[in-house]
Amino acid sequence: MDRIRVLGGVPLHGRMEIGGAKNAALPLMACGLLTDETLTLRNVPALADIATMQQLLAQHGITVARAGREARLGGRIGNTEAPYEIVRKMRASVLVLGPLLARCGQARVSLPGGCAIGTRPVDLHLRGLEQMGADISIDAGYVTASVRGRLRGAHILMPQVSVGATENLLMAATLAEGRSVIANAAREPEIHDLAECLRAMGARIEGHGTDRIEIEGVAALHGATHDILPDRIEAGTYACAVAIAGGDLLLAGARLADIEAVALALRQAGIEVEERPGGVFVRRLNGLAGTDVMTEPYPGFPTDMQAQFMALMSVAEGAAMVTETIFENRFMHVPELNRMGARINVHGASAIVRGVDALSGAPVMATDLRASVSLVLAGLAARGETVIDRVYHLDRGYEAVERKLAAVGARIERI
Ligand code: UD1
Repeated sequence: MDRIRVLGGVPLHGRMEIGGAKNAALPLMACGLLTDETLTLRNVPALADIATMQQLLAQHGITVARAGREARLGGRIGNTEAPYEIVRKMRASVLVLGPLLARCGQARVSLPGGCAIGTRPVDLHLRGLEQMGADISIDAGYVTASVRGRLRGAHILMPQVSVGATENLLMAATLAEGRSVIANAAREPEIHDLAECLRAMGARIEGHGTDRIEIEGVAALHGATHDILPDRIEAGTYACAVAIAGGDLLLAGARLADIEAVALALRQAGIEVEERPGGVFVRRLNGLAGTDVMTEPYPGFPTDMQAQFMALMSVAEGAAMVTETIFENRFMHVPELNRMGARINVHGASAIVRGVDALSGAPVMATDLRASVSLVLAGLAARGETVIDRVYHLDRGYEAVERKLAAVGARIERI
């Protein structure tokens, strides 16, 4: 099994290309189920999760032909069941439910089950589809959904902000009969991107990017070509990398507007973050100041950046409180960081991070996607060698992490 070895203490310099957003690419690929025509996606990242979605779509009858960063999706749906063997690998598989139901009037999708960062139910997805007229039952670990005729437009108030549920319902509503409103919708840039692609496919959507999305259903969608937005979490992660290792980086293609909350926290910690032509420039000039953060739905501080920011705070001056409000079990990186010499105590949903002068390299274990990258970041700042095991977690969401970091000066390799 692959491992990653990092030798700490080297600052980063140069330019790094930020790829297309994984969390936008996954729902965009599910849009391939909404039309018989070809959907072309550009700027598709090469990631394990993308390959999993490709596999899932293939068994529904939609082929994904990839050429470099471009993916062409096309075919006819021949199977409306999403099996456990694929769904268990990736929760985002549940995003096929809305499109399959809207398109075929039926779907059987395995429940994703628990995952390392919490229980993560899909009740909001199901409740919304029921409001649109679907009959839903759960049996043998599968959700079975059906509707007579078309789904019907509905006014859906989300009791809690959910990215995935907003996406599933948005996709379903494009082909429903009549008008739908999703109130208290998630506002993530990935949702805006999804809606823009759906509009290019002929959907009638307004208000995306706000907490109230209005959709006027249409009878059919057509093919389109869409450029996937840059990955704000990848950008934020490498911003934290230069903050912890020192030096300066141009994150080429990144958009400051998408990472404002992270930029704000980094600036408070003493890091320079500014928009430059072609990207975002990040530089560490002096020491790091302890800075509190609390995760929130967008535009708040992203939960997907919490572990990385905590790694950074572990070597800041003074203390920082990091509070997680989205997922109940998202501190698995804490014991690993502590093994590297960090001083972090968790109490409930908050972690108090007391900055230390230096971390020391150690063998550590990746537990989930963002936790694993936080260990890479810690390794960049640590004295000596850090070896991260179970890097398949990393490969789900970061493209060529070791190559990208090595190209800007880090001493890092895959072993
Ligand atoms: C998406 C992102 C993930 C990110 C998360 C929060 C993708 C592929 N994944 O995940 O990287 O960490 O947003 O920004 O885009 N919830 C329910 N019932 C539901 C759905 C969600 O209770 O039916 C809860 C979840 O347990 C969680 C909260 O709502 O506590 C937010 O989850 P959600 O926004 O749905 O996350 P995902 O879409 O799964």
